[in-house]
Amino acid sequence: MTDTSRVGPANQQTNPSGSRPRVLIAAELESLLPEDPLPGYEAVWISTLDPTPRGDFVAAILLLSRSMGEEELEGLPKLQVLAQCAVGYDNIDLGAAARRGIPVTNTPDVLTESTADLAWALILAVARRMKEGQEMLAQDTWSGWSPTQLLGLELNGSTLGIVGAGRIGQAVGRRALGFGMRVSYSDAEGRPDFERAIGAERSDLPTLLAESDVVTLHLPSTAETRGIFDAHRFSLMKPGSLFINTARGDLVDEGALLESLDEGRLGGAGLDVFSREPQVPRELVEHPKVVALPHIGSATTQTRRAMAELAVKNALEVLAGREPLTPVRG
Ligand code: DGY
Repeated sequence: MTDTSRVGPANQQTNPSGSRPRVLIAAELESLLPEDPLPGYEAVWISTLDPTPRGDFVAAILLLSRSMGEEELEGLPKLQVLAQCAVGYDNIDLGAAARRGIPVTNTPDVLTESTADLAWALILAVARRMKEGQEMLAQDTWSGWSPTQLLGLELNGSTLGIVGAGRIGQAVGRRALGFGMRVSYSDAEGRPDFERAIGAERSDLPTLLAESDVVTLHLPSTAETRGIFDAHRFSLMKPGSLFINTARGDLVDEGALLESLDEGRLGGAGLDVFSREPQVPRELVEHPKVVALPHIGSATTQTRRAMAELAVKNALEVLAGREPLTPVRG
């Protein structure tokens, strides 16, 4: 690859030759992108564990694992665009970016279907108690077929409650039709097209929680939504129901979730996200009723390539003085 460099130990980046404007880009994206993804610019690859460099970068193409707040932006005085390679952007201080006139972009749409698939992988795994079954075989404790062994939830005829019916929530809802589920959703906005398409019904959150056999969470993490699934909300859920989270870990009080599982109020949980990633509460991961995954909702080769390419395109559009394809509207 040409025109590339890596962040050095001094963590202070300048462009002595002044030849090509420099773009900061997450090193983890390199193998997903074509050769020379930023023609005319020098790509400076930075890995997740490196601190954010300071210097004259004109664009930053970054991952959700990197916080971008006042301090980081202070060190990037020439920045013209912050291109997030994810649909969520809770790691970015939008106010700090706006104060500096730096547009922020994200990568919606391209990951909708893969993330909805993973939510369904978790719904099926938890509803049919796959972790307990697999463990039984791994521990060699299976004594043979039994009519009452590992009885799970029959999805056909059950109710799926979607909390947050944006793009991903709706894609999860569309898949529910094939499983014969009734779909209800709660959202700040009514979604008439979604209702017409699959017969989904809008509910307020307490009603949805009381009536759903499976609750699946698809809200962004914002000041209003953080911690929304607390002890009170879990107490409103139908006894024995299942809880799925492929959105953001900090929407959930993980202690309260664990308590609800231990008390048997919840029948199980499928979790792809955690509040302090990559740290994960052991009690949740090891819980027999929890299927836990390391934030792989969008992890298909096709989707991750599309995300990386969209993030780069957004940066290049802004650098060329045009509107980005998918701006974050703050
Ligand atoms: C996102 O895009 O926000 C996901 O969490 C990772 O794909």
